[in-house]
Amino acid sequence: MTRFDHRKYTPIVAINKPDRRWPNNVITETPEWCSVDLRDGNQALIDPMTPPQKLEMFEMLVAVGFKQIEVGFPAASQTDFDFVRKLIVEDRIPEDVTIQVLTQAREELITRSYEALRGVRKAIVHVYNSTSTVQREQVFKLSKQEIKQIAVNGAAWVKKEAEKQPDTEWQFQYSPESFTGTEIDYAVEVCNAVVDVWQPSPDKKIILNLPATVEVATPNVYADQIEWFCDHIQKRDSVVVSLHTHNDRGCGVAASELGVLAGADRVEGTLLGNGERTGNMDIVTMAMNLYSAGVDPKLDLSIMDRIINVVEKCTQLKVHPRHPYAGELVFAAFSGSHQDAINKCLALYEEGQTWEVAYLPIDPRDVGRNYQEVIRINSQSGKGGVAYVLEQEHGIKMPRWLQVDFSSVVQREAEVTEAEVSAEQIIGLFESTYLNSNQSMRLNGYQVSRTDGIDKFDATLVRNGDDLLLSGTGRGVLEAFMSALSEQLERELVIIEYNEHTLGHHDGSEAMAYVQISIDSKRVCGAGRSRDILGATLAAILNAVARA
Ligand code: KIV
Ligand code: ZN
Repeated sequence: MTRFDHRKYTPIVAINKPDRRWPNNVITETPEWCSVDLRDGNQALIDPMTPPQKLEMFEMLVAVGFKQIEVGFPAASQTDFDFVRKLIVEDRIPEDVTIQVLTQAREELITRSYEALRGVRKAIVHVYNSTSTVQREQVFKLSKQEIKQIAVNGAAWVKKEAEKQPDTEWQFQYSPESFTGTEIDYAVEVCNAVVDVWQPSPDKKIILNLPATVEVATPNVYADQIEWFCDHIQKRDSVVVSLHTHNDRGCGVAASELGVLAGADRVEGTLLGNGERTGNMDIVTMAMNLYSAGVDPKLDLSIMDRIINVVEKCTQLKVHPRHPYAGELVFAAFSGSHQDAINKCLALYEEGQTWEVAYLPIDPRDVGRNYQEVIRINSQSGKGGVAYVLEQEHGIKMPRWLQVDFSSVVQREAEVTEAEVSAEQIIGLFESTYLNSNQSMRLNGYQVSRTDGIDKFDATLVRNGDDLLLSGTGRGVLEAFMSALSEQLERELVIIEYNEHTLGHHDGSEAMAYVQISIDSKRVCGAGRSRDILGATLAAILNAVARA
């Protein structure tokens, strides 16, 4: 037998629940959110947050729109105690925000927690004890009855201490820690005992928070547990059923989503998922999932850059570039076919369609990104992406035939450098390839005259420092110029493709011209920029000739 032996672990056991209803549900309303960044998130950090960092995090959470914020574990940490005092004494808690503190179900810790909260307008006191089989049997070595008694005592002390501070609007919360590892009927039994102590009513609800302290099963099992709990808890209309999932199997968000389908009212989590081990449920992802399904998440996640900045600063953990909705690469498209599809859909969206953009589940602008960041160029990219970058960043609208020509230039660069090609590099390549290729030839003034419908073009061509006379005739100025140039260079020159446009919309805007010419049957492209169309076109032809 190898050391890597799956038989060492217990298979997942499904709940026998033939009447399960949650798979048919859809989330149409956002749950109540509670941020636990300052408590669970903070407890998981290598270096816990400093007081200024805690304040910055708190203020950001308020700005995002959280109405419930667990601010610490004041009975366990002096820093947390002082932070709670600071918030209260300096009157930093907005009227519509309720702070929450965590405490174990021990009398002296509960008393100390209420000391921290003295003078607060309203607060949630969150008491917990472990109820799971493993904790009961292996850690505490206590019976079910004894573990239930810890919860009941804790609830009673929480109630008693609250009565000593009647000016505060108190709400009580109980968590059977490791709920998912607790026999479901026993979890309900313990919570019912807590309900008996607190005697909630529909006007004065309590919160029962059901943690997946460690995620050990597929999210459907959690959903079954939540639905079962909601069906069997007494006074359901007086209880806020709350979820608190961790991410050990990578399904923290999925578990909370299914838990809401199963009837929960409230969800605890952290921004971007910091927390013990693999983290807490990521509220950014869950809220954005709701948003992208047309549900108002009641959080302002348009300030994504501020969120990332504060979270990174306070946790000293970098946000992964592929983190849903927040990572640097999550809206980037490198592949040519993706870029083309995005371009086409975006054009239709700009014409007023609803958001149905291939490869982009949400509009990146909603979270402060722009479309320029979407199309990124490397050796996998196609002509559409390169054209998009040039047009968005520089107003250069390459015709299709030039896009084909230029994409091979960019691709070669990407292959040689084995790296992404930035927007600056792309314009640099465009200029050096098509606009500034002609260092050796320039027109030193020109004259155009017309007689009987025939144009005559006369100019001095400076070539490698020598003045050469150009003179030619044709039907149109371009034909006359091409004929003069052909004669002087002793080459057969023919214009194959030609496009032009202005670079702006005002009188002084410059013009861009693009040509593809055949020189002794070889095709070459060039571009020119000038104050007027004719000047741009002549420059484009000379640039193409010089390239050849
Ligand atoms: O994960 C957990 O069980 C907790 C409780 C204290 C709510 O954080
Ligand atoms: Zn937790």
